[in-house]
Amino acid sequence: MTEARFEFGKNGSPPAAVDGRLDAPAFHRNAEPIWDAIAEFLAGQTGSVLEIGSGTGQHIVTYAARAPHLVFWPSDIVESHRISIEAYRRDAALGNLRAPQSIDLMRPDWEWLGQRDTDQALAAVLCFNVIHIAPWTVAQNLMRGAGRHLKAGGLLLTYGPYKRGGAHTAPSNEAFDTSLRGRNPDWGIRDLETVADVAAQNGLALVKTVAMPANNLVLAFERR
Ligand SMILES: C[S@@+](CC[C@H](N)C(=O)[O-])C[C@H]1O[C@@H](n2cnc3c(N)ncnc32)[C@H](O)[C@@H]1O
Repeated sequence: MTEARFEFGKNGSPPAAVDGRLDAPAFHRNAEPIWDAIAEFLAGQTGSVLEIGSGTGQHIVTYAARAPHLVFWPSDIVESHRISIEAYRRDAALGNLRAPQSIDLMRPDWEWLGQRDTDQALAAVLCFNVIHIAPWTVAQNLMRGAGRHLKAGGLLLTYGPYKRGGAHTAPSNEAFDTSLRGRNPDWGIRDLETVADVAAQNGLALVKTVAMPANNLVLAFERR
């Protein structure tokens, strides 16, 4: 049986605390480098930031505290992840962090709840470590939805490993790709140029590629 979905608190990751808070070990390594890469893009924005695949919620709670001029909207398809996000949110008691919602990137027509409340297009979409741990459709629908929901000049900011020109950039990424495909043949590290092409088809221009520790990249796409 292959894994249908990635879930924190399973397969060796730390169990949930009594209030449902989950811990992603990678968060403690990548939260600061990701912030260093995305802070300049968020600084110039106003309005709402949607995160898709928030996981434990640790990134969005940390970043909402650092960017009080923006309103942050977490989301995840897994219920235990939404419970964790909500537990971190309650603990942080930030005025600019909304309750988690379920957004499924397997759906091409995905919507976000804040649209009804704010009647505004998004300033930014965050999506970290999702598109390689999900079928390719998820990457396509991320781009489709970001193109639809971002305002002109709004940003899609992604983080994760990528191939370049069809080739892996490091042996560790190649080994990770093999293990992902072993867990689910529809998962796998995506090709940067193919992702950028799909983005361009949806009005999103790749404006910056930031090299990150452990052969990951932050990609910044701007809605034209
Ligand atoms: C590896 S985790 C990354 C979580 C978090 N962004 C981080 O970096 O710690 C992948 C996340 O993507 C979510 N995910 C998987 N399939 C998805 C889908 N079809 N739509 C939206 N999110 C999805 C999972 O529930 C999980 O929380």
